[in-house]
Amino acid sequence: PIPDLDIHHVGGRIGAEISNVTLSSTLQPSIIAAIRQALLRHKVIFFRNQTHLTDVEQESFGRLLGDLVPHPTVPSLEGTQAILELDGARGERASSWHTDVTFRAAYPKISILRGHVVPERGGDTTWSNTETAYEELPEVFRDFIDKLWAVHSNEYDYVGDRGGNIPESAIKRYKQIFTSTVYEAEHPLVHVHSETGKRSLIIGHFVKRITGFGTADSQRIISILHDHATRPENTVRWRWSVGDVAIWDNRATLHRAVDDYDDQPRIVRRTTIAGEVPVSVDG
Ligand code: SIN
Repeated sequence: PIPDLDIHHVGGRIGAEISNVTLSSTLQPSIIAAIRQALLRHKVIFFRNQTHLTDVEQESFGRLLGDLVPHPTVPSLEGTQAILELDGARGERASSWHTDVTFRAAYPKISILRGHVVPERGGDTTWSNTETAYEELPEVFRDFIDKLWAVHSNEYDYVGDRGGNIPESAIKRYKQIFTSTVYEAEHPLVHVHSETGKRSLIIGHFVKRITGFGTADSQRIISILHDHATRPENTVRWRWSVGDVAIWDNRATLHRAVDDYDDQPRIVRRTTIAGEVPVSVDG
């Protein structure tokens, strides 16, 4: 039997905190099953005060959820197989809406993020539920987008998306590291979740254009979907403390960091679990 976890909703449509689990690589399979179930239901789950987790333990816990996959272009943090460190002081602020690594044909199904250095004020992360976003669109619009595909690429406008507020050193770093190899992948705009069977949107800042549409029309369609998916009512926001861990279903969410922490230090460490090529509603 799957044990009961202490689960408390954080947002109305997405996000829950689990308060009676200490994350480790020795968790019982039944607890892992319960965590998986909570993840599928709530899309992002939060665990406070996991300060005992080292980088290596974050990875070994992650392996209980699947195969770790390193970031395709950014070298993993020294001493780890697959940890992506994002350091706000180096300018790496993931502050526009995205789903992780959708520029690859098969992209991570789960991401695990640990607060390592947390600013005194600001630097929250927000997530949006792309399943409820899809479900709450008018039926005629769902029928229209069900058939569309979009091209995703890591060669996107990191600078423009940050409102130009980005140091020269960070621009260089993005070019040299984040886009050292340029990838493109075409995904259905709507996919069927490999475990829940539910439909959700695949959008976010890596989308370049919708197949068959010009840039301007693509942008208009994408803007409607983005604005709809990221309404505050469809999101949850987490105020970090050191040692907090957020785990999200990367097949059913978008997320972004909130860039309101000025020059305070902020370091988060992310592990991703290998996923599959998404399947369209036509199979
Ligand atoms: C990420 O995009 O994976 C990191 C989000 C954050 O920095 O809060």
